[in-house]
Amino acid sequence: MKPYIYITRKLPEAVIEVMKQKYEVKMWEHEDISVPKEVLYAEAEKADALLTMVSDQIDEQILTAGNRLKVVANLAVGFDNIDVKKASIKGVAICNTPDVLTDTTADLTFGLLMAAARRIVEAAEYVKEGKWKSWSPLLLAGQDIHHKTIGIVGMGKIGETVAKRATGFDMNILYHNRTRKPDMEQRIGAKYVSFEELVEKSDFIVCLTPLTQETRNLFTREVFRGMKQSAIFINASRGPVIDEQALYDALTTGEIAGAGLDVFEKEPINRDHPLLSLPNVVALPHIGSSSVETRTAMMKLCIENIMAVLEGKVPKTLVNKDWKPIVKA
Ligand code: DGY
Repeated sequence: MKPYIYITRKLPEAVIEVMKQKYEVKMWEHEDISVPKEVLYAEAEKADALLTMVSDQIDEQILTAGNRLKVVANLAVGFDNIDVKKASIKGVAICNTPDVLTDTTADLTFGLLMAAARRIVEAAEYVKEGKWKSWSPLLLAGQDIHHKTIGIVGMGKIGETVAKRATGFDMNILYHNRTRKPDMEQRIGAKYVSFEELVEKSDFIVCLTPLTQETRNLFTREVFRGMKQSAIFINASRGPVIDEQALYDALTTGEIAGAGLDVFEKEPINRDHPLLSLPNVVALPHIGSSSVETRTAMMKLCIENIMAVLEGKVPKTLVNKDWKPIVKA
């Protein structure tokens, strides 16, 4: 019997063809609807491998259902949707897609910063809605980006790449991270500061930290209060890193000036969510790594990882380094 691979979203046939030659492959047939939990559960019971999305919860129940499950390849660098500890206990390799998405996600993050600072989305809507009556001196005037201070929270590869983008704008770069990165400080000219100092001194606070127990709810009401009134907050990591109600209050009371958000506590965000009613919020549907080239590279990396595990090899981008394969059916 051929190993069975279940993919939780419809992916291009041309990309998955390579797996179809060797394995039995089935996909959830929708591009923009998540697989229901009960379908995922039933598929996990049969699957040797799962190719999953950030929107799928790979929890203890799914991992326990997976009697034959050997690998879960998540189409994302983040893996907060997966119970990694449980996966190791169950002998399931967890793989993610780092590196291939670094530049693309940094581009989007910096684009979001620019859109929020220069009010690009608001201005584009203004023209399309026929509101443009004449040139006027302060029409949709935003904030400068060049020579300002950017504070990056979470200086992983994407953070570093955003910092590189910032050097092109002659920005002063501050960062806060679990560990200091002296090499990067030298190369890019970024300065390590405490979280409090970063929050206080930055014109643009950019959140790129992974979602962990330590970072959940990192941006509280007090943190927003500590920012400059002119500050713009950018979140391209995960929604639960911030207290959304506190952000809303900070934006509406003028404690901060604006926000650019690619991620939300609950995704997809409800269109009635109060944050979406604010003109000083640029909201995107979690598209950080979404270029055709990068998403294709991410899919290919997931496939490579799955095939490696099914062939008895160590996958290229293994998350649970303590993984030990267990002989399963
Ligand atoms: C990631 O890679 O973690 C992104 O957030 C998913 O696109």
